Amino acid sequence: MKGLASLFLGIFGTFAFSWVGLTVIPNWQIGHLNPQSDEEGTDIYPQPQSGMAERGARVYAANGCIYCHSQQLRADYAANDIERKWGDRRSAPRDYIFDRPVFLGKMRMGQDLANIGARAPKEQESAPPGGAAAVAASPSPATSPVKAPAASSASPAPKAPTSPAPVGASASPPSAAATAAAGSPAASPSPAGAPWPVQTAGEPPIYSTAWHHVHLYSPRSINVDSNMPSYRFLYQNRRISDARSADALQLTGSDAPPEGWEIVPTFDAKCLVAYLMSLNQSHPLKDVRSAEGAPAAPAPAAGSPPPASPK
Ligand code: HEC
Repeated sequence: MKGLASLFLGIFGTFAFSWVGLTVIPNWQIGHLNPQSDEEGTDIYPQPQSGMAERGARVYAANGCIYCHSQQLRADYAANDIERKWGDRRSAPRDYIFDRPVFLGKMRMGQDLANIGARAPKEQESAPPGGAAAVAASPSPATSPVKAPAASSASPAPKAPTSPAPVGASASPPSAAATAAAGSPAASPSPAGAPWPVQTAGEPPIYSTAWHHVHLYSPRSINVDSNMPSYRFLYQNRRISDARSADALQLTGSDAPPEGWEIVPTFDAKCLVAYLMSLNQSHPLKDVRSAEGAPAAPAPAAGSPPPASPK
């Protein structure tokens, strides 16, 4: 009977000890982080996202994207994430202070998405509110900055990727890749070491809003070997009333709708893409070293941190 009290205390102590170590101390260390800013209080990072991006995060959760995609870059000593050009620096707790829930993820069937917005073509990059607005409110084709020219031209030349190309891009010049893909769409899409998505003729610029829609609608139209499920239920197939909608997907081949029909994103799809475009951890953080091992510059030119790391 005498041992009962100490047994109980021992069990209680074990739980209390781990609770302190795993919950209280981490919460005390990183539970109340604020956005960082420079001396003048400008150049604040991170910032809360637009309502569309917030809703897009819920669409992301509802569709299980987290089961195949992480949103965290591991440090150089632990992994090759930075070498894979998924970002310039590792992720840090401060990157996530406005995310509820945080989609860290631990499976990588597909690439890490922590910086997918930073990989967007220059004109759409790091402007999630503008990007979202451009997607949301574009009743006339003239107001759609990127889609209009892309839709009207069939030649691959002007669509050579302007973004920092993904994994292993330096292995093959993008123009050659584009030409090869254009010449033989059935050819082996991604030999080891080649960039994952290859810029194909007739496709929107890689990682643009329009590209994401085509990719979500039909991943295999972009990457023949893709294991990613298609999310067609986020899109609507409808008859063209007067003119083709500016939002209509630029689909080619067997995915293209029949004459007189168009496929347009639902509001959820637009929010999801607004969310993807908002994922951008390229801003330097004071407490994290960037790619070259030097501490990240505290604050470069306000407003426009280049995705490339400081020298
Ligand atoms: C069954 C696993 C799986 C699920 C679920 C999944 N993906 Fe993917 N995803 C992949 C694979 C594999 C790739 C690489 C091939 C490709 O580009 O299609 C990929 C690629 C991507 C890319 C391109 C990344 C890059 O760097 O090129 C984006 C963006 C993306 N997925 C977004 C999403 C979103 C958003 C969802 C949820 C609506 C989602 N994925 C759900 C497996 C998945």
